[in-house]
Amino acid sequence: MLQTIIEPFRIKMVEPIKLTSRDEREKLIEAAHFNPFLLRAEDVIIDLLTDSGTSAMSSDAWAALMRGDESYAGARSWYRFRDTVKDIFGFEQVIPTHQGRAAEHILFGVMVKPGSIVPNNTHFDTTRANIEFNGAKAIDLPCAEAADFDSTFPFKGNMDTEALEKLVAEKGDRIPLIMVTITNNSGGGQPVSMANIKEISRIARKAGIPFYIDACRFAENAHFIKRREPGYENTPTIDIAREIFGYADGCTMSAKKDAFANIGGFLCTNDAELAHRERNILILTEGFPTYGGLAGRDLEAIAVGLRDILDEHYLDYRLLSTRYVVKHLFDAGIPVVVPAGGHAVYLDARRFLPHIDPLQYPGSALAVELYIEGGIRCVEIGTLMFGLDPHTGEEHPYHHDFVRLAIPRRVYTQSHMDYVIEAIQLVWERREDIRGLKIVEAPKFLRHFTAKLERVWL
Ligand SMILES: Cc1ncc(COP(=O)(O)O)c(C=O)c1O
Repeated sequence: MLQTIIEPFRIKMVEPIKLTSRDEREKLIEAAHFNPFLLRAEDVIIDLLTDSGTSAMSSDAWAALMRGDESYAGARSWYRFRDTVKDIFGFEQVIPTHQGRAAEHILFGVMVKPGSIVPNNTHFDTTRANIEFNGAKAIDLPCAEAADFDSTFPFKGNMDTEALEKLVAEKGDRIPLIMVTITNNSGGGQPVSMANIKEISRIARKAGIPFYIDACRFAENAHFIKRREPGYENTPTIDIAREIFGYADGCTMSAKKDAFANIGGFLCTNDAELAHRERNILILTEGFPTYGGLAGRDLEAIAVGLRDILDEHYLDYRLLSTRYVVKHLFDAGIPVVVPAGGHAVYLDARRFLPHIDPLQYPGSALAVELYIEGGIRCVEIGTLMFGLDPHTGEEHPYHHDFVRLAIPRRVYTQSHMDYVIEAIQLVWERREDIRGLKIVEAPKFLRHFTAKLERVWL
């Protein structure tokens, strides 16, 4: 068996990357106030800020754009989209939205009220924000293994189902729905096992509470189940996905992830009465129920992307390619979250730069150095992002300081990944000379997007 990982696709159209020198990047990041969000994309060599909306569509998806039916109501593209979603996800009601958070906004607007509680393995930030916006409380119940960055437990995205059962027993009357996010993005892109999904479903059904899945990376999660969970090795990944959704009552989806689309999303449910209320909001905020927030051509691209993503050769390559980066870093002694997740590599900046106080943002300092070293753009997930309580103005170290390198789908090659590994290793070798950062100017809410920082000198 050949060991070299190859991309199971050929390149037909290319987008040039502007190569910059180290000296240029020193100046560019300083001009961007040491915040990678403030860089121009053209000044980035490898952009690993997010895997959302940044993936490469297939020639089939581009061809499908051309047959987009832009009729206001009942377009052919809508039926192709709806039928594909129903075939894979199995839900009776499909509501198209312009992206994942629009689906969340509608779902929670209809299902939660002030005082409600919504448990999840780990809420993604827009999910949490949409719940809190409605006066409800978002509770994270990650499994115990998730907190141990070195544990090689294969399903660190799992929910702590004992804690869920306890919460349901104590406060079930305040829980309008239970959610699980696959894969668990905020928890390191780690998968959730089928056994865990079944158990959550059992608890939810026993209590009569609807169970929803945040399905953004459903195909990666289904393929992890195929590769890691005994009993599924011979099951086609599409059937694993169908089984997952068979345990749920609905889902939210950002098509910007596992549908390769640059924009799009949807909301599904089996409850016709609920869907009726959701469509009333959809008409108010997104559009007519057969296009939601999307053009006919977007619906076409998503319908093709949802089939593309379930190609098992692609999924094998995707998971192996991420694992390849993690393995090389791990073997070099670089603190990285293991085992590898699906869409991203997480560096543990607090252990990478133990001499930097968490309140001097080791994650941001590391992200800055990766840009200077290799023109790589990535995001801090730590004290800059979550350390400030905007209500009290108090700042505390977040429970971790990570740097996330999110890998857009089918965009970068293995040699790009080798380049990323090499750049991280070079930063690792000079880690003792790296200084922390301090904030010069930042808003109270979501400060990481626009904060201006400068280096702390001893
Ligand atoms: C797990 C998860 N849920 C929801 C969303 C929100 O999707 P969107 O960015 O399309 O609004 C994201 C986006 O990154 C996500 O990762």
